Amino acid sequence: MCGIVCYVGRKPAKPILLEGLKRLEYRGYDSAGLAVQDGETIHCERAVGKIVELERRVNGLEMKGTVGIAHTRWATHGRPSEENAHPQRDRDENVFVIHNGIIENYHVLKKKLEKDGIVFRSETDTEVLAHLIALHFDGDLSDAVRKTMAQVEGTFGIGVIHRQTPGQIVVARRGSPLIIGVSDDGHFVASDVSAMVRYTNKVVHLEENELATVTADGFSISTAQAKPVQRSTETVEWRAEDAELNGFPHFMLKEIYEQPAALENAIRGRLEQGEGVPKLGGIMPVWESLKQSRHMVLVACGTSYYAASVGKYIFERLTEIDTEVGLASEFRYRKLNFPPNTFVVAISQSGETADTLAAIKEAKRKGARLIGVVNVVGSSISRETEAGIYNHAGPEIGVASTKNFTSQLTILTLLALLLGRHQNLSLTEGIQAIRALEALPGLIHKALAQANHIEAVSEKYCRCTNWLFLGRKYNYPIALEGALKLKEVSYIHAEGYAAGEMKHGPIALINPEMPTVAIIPLDEMHEKMLSNIHEIKSRKGPVIAIATEGDEKVRDVADDIIEIPPTLDFLYPILTVIPCQLLAYYCAKFLNRDIDKPRNLAKSVTVE
Ligand code: F6R
Repeated sequence: MCGIVCYVGRKPAKPILLEGLKRLEYRGYDSAGLAVQDGETIHCERAVGKIVELERRVNGLEMKGTVGIAHTRWATHGRPSEENAHPQRDRDENVFVIHNGIIENYHVLKKKLEKDGIVFRSETDTEVLAHLIALHFDGDLSDAVRKTMAQVEGTFGIGVIHRQTPGQIVVARRGSPLIIGVSDDGHFVASDVSAMVRYTNKVVHLEENELATVTADGFSISTAQAKPVQRSTETVEWRAEDAELNGFPHFMLKEIYEQPAALENAIRGRLEQGEGVPKLGGIMPVWESLKQSRHMVLVACGTSYYAASVGKYIFERLTEIDTEVGLASEFRYRKLNFPPNTFVVAISQSGETADTLAAIKEAKRKGARLIGVVNVVGSSISRETEAGIYNHAGPEIGVASTKNFTSQLTILTLLALLLGRHQNLSLTEGIQAIRALEALPGLIHKALAQANHIEAVSEKYCRCTNWLFLGRKYNYPIALEGALKLKEVSYIHAEGYAAGEMKHGPIALINPEMPTVAIIPLDEMHEKMLSNIHEIKSRKGPVIAIATEGDEKVRDVADDIIEIPPTLDFLYPILTVIPCQLLAYYCAKFLNRDIDKPRNLAKSVTVE
């Protein structure tokens, strides 16, 4: 949520900041602003709405300066308005601050500042930071920021400039990621590498409670206690073109089509047919304990939680490990009691989801061991966990997660297979699974080849205001994910259910206006799913079946069929979810929704 980009260097800052903001827009998009510094002059502009509004505002303006900070906002404190947009400034307009996160004690701080005569101009918690930094400033900006950090509670990633310290930006983090980018033309700071990949792939991650003073020629990092920190640069693997549309109308569609490649990246170098045992170098630091473990908890939020939910079935199928799945946002409210040698696996595309981070911190406190399944290299979750497996799915820009979901399922399957092969899973089953995994990218291509048909089905049903998604076992979480996808990008109300629950309530909803998407691959659940379809048909409900190609029994009863190729039972979710993603996409398209930036949503949920 919210995006930060800063630049200090030898080139004009304005176009660099605007370009960076556009690349971060998927993180928040209700208002935006930037401040460019030229000597002791700071020119700040803000606008409500998308980045293009800000661009319109600043296009004709001369904003000289090679130093600047910029922000795209997803409102938490205060409605989206120009006054609430960032940068926020102090009374004398010396200090300009951009901020991701939430200052939890801002009410108390604000009251105190108001008592001292400061009049607030916005409803934001961020404005408190600007006033405090101004009050602490006595010539050393990093010192003023450090003193402010000591006073505030909550989370922040901030970028600060001061009229009297031209040529430098001070940045600091607690709970909200910040990355410094190093290039020949100067330095960048951003909440997300995608804001700077066009200019550099050399980055340095700021750690918790650290701050940095960044200039055109260098940067110095120190702790909140003013202890200097030395850290070398890392190279990121993402390229600028990975974060571009490349001819697709939307990132969501592009990322749906990137799934064969994302899967290949997830399995590349990790499959070894001979022994039927995958290789996962990232978990080697914990391997000796992990292979003894009999208790595992998969935690995540949203779509990643549904991947975890499929993962539970896969672990039960392939291993002897007692596997639980937990919603990260509820995890801390539970009385956690982990048997010895329990592993908690945090699953997250961004690696920055606040609830997932909080859940693993709590799990660690209670003695669990931690593994991460994360896409963004160097993200907070990858740092908090002892070991992990990266997805290597490339940047996911569309707010609705697609390629990362199938990639997560693949990684969880590899992990389960590895553990299963060290338990009771036979060599034959291991080799069979590896062959099936290797075939998956090709099968996804086949599933994608149904896109035109799925578009036509979407056109037929997109005006229905309520949908139901049904599945069983491995495909029950796909019903949940299908409903979530449809809701978030098309705003159609949809519910996902375990098909066995139909008779316990939801069947009352069935009528000719309510389509049901029945996920019915040819697996052990097939007959039961078929009965569910008959029940819906006898109540005149339209049925769209996602079925294995050549399934004549389904053809006889469903109104519309979307076919997927055959695979192993526990790998079907990787295929059945593809039509669900495309249905959501095309319905949203026919309803003219803002597909990549659905209302009220942001890509990375870094506040609780
Ligand atoms: C839905 C979606 C969200 C995320 C959730 C977790 O399409 O994208 O539900 O899956 O916010 O995000 P990560 O995986 O980054 O932890």
